[in-house]
Amino acid sequence: MQHFADISQLTSTELSGLLALARQLQDEFEQQGQNVPVLQGKALAMIFTKPSLRTRVSFEMGMYHLGGIALYLSPDEVGLGTRESAPDVARVLSGYVDGIMARVFGHQHIIELMDYASIPVINGLSDLSHPCQALADLYTIQQEFGQLAGVKMAFVGDGDNNVCTSLMEATQLGQMEMSVIAPPGYQPDPGLAATMSHVTVADMSQVETVEALLHDIDVLYTDVWISMGQETQRDARLKDLSGYQVDTELLSLCHNPDVAVMHCLPAHRGEEITDDIMDGPHSRVFTQAHNRLHVQKSLLAHLLGGVPLPD
Ligand code: CP
Ligand code: NVA
Repeated sequence: MQHFADISQLTSTELSGLLALARQLQDEFEQQGQNVPVLQGKALAMIFTKPSLRTRVSFEMGMYHLGGIALYLSPDEVGLGTRESAPDVARVLSGYVDGIMARVFGHQHIIELMDYASIPVINGLSDLSHPCQALADLYTIQQEFGQLAGVKMAFVGDGDNNVCTSLMEATQLGQMEMSVIAPPGYQPDPGLAATMSHVTVADMSQVETVEALLHDIDVLYTDVWISMGQETQRDARLKDLSGYQVDTELLSLCHNPDVAVMHCLPAHRGEEITDDIMDGPHSRVFTQAHNRLHVQKSLLAHLLGGVPLPD
């Protein structure tokens, strides 16, 4: 594993190893108040063409805890693909730092960075996928349920977005079951869904199907209806997705008393999820956010520090 562009590039052994290393690094930090500085003298360049809270801070603190440094390169600085081409940025940074994490619009920029960098490249979200989030979500699910295999997730909302796409790949690798409940026009790419026998797709007009899908799920997941870069579609998206809010009524269809509600955040409270669910007893959204740190450390220690993945 040289880069981390998508969950689909991982083997199941690499997945379990990354999750196990994350657990080790979390335990080490909680028990000793610090991590072994396996990244001493190393630097991560973080290219952001979109805003961030969790991704920026978890990678920056991850580098700090592991003894390295992180350089934040804001949307105004690099001008990826405008001021300078992604291949040239990759070649220049390869002479300065030990790894690149990039948050981009077009996924092609991640591919170009990987193709031209001689150092590891990590996808910190593109319009296509958000593998760091999905990896942290699997970690959260494993901690919550003790395993991944057989755990049932329903994703409700914009099923054609980056988070849902990475979750489809992640649940496949984790041998989970997943349903995507989304309106027509917001359902996963049919080509992708066709390769995933563990995924069932439905819309809210299929009342009995939706009730059956939600009945015994373990995880109810949602994400914003308007992703970064889609702001001009706001009115249409609010209208099209209005019946897909995670609220008390929807949660009442989930009969598993231990169902966990997850959201990658940031949440648009009152749109895709209500306050009472976000702040209620089923919500795991802040644990999920905190777990980004442990998983980011695992990726960094392995990719930049050569720390082997546990068996
Ligand atoms: N979930 C997530 O990636 O959050 P940020 O956009 O704040 O990084
Ligand atoms: N789908 C969201 C995820 C944010 C972490 C977006 O792309 O804006």
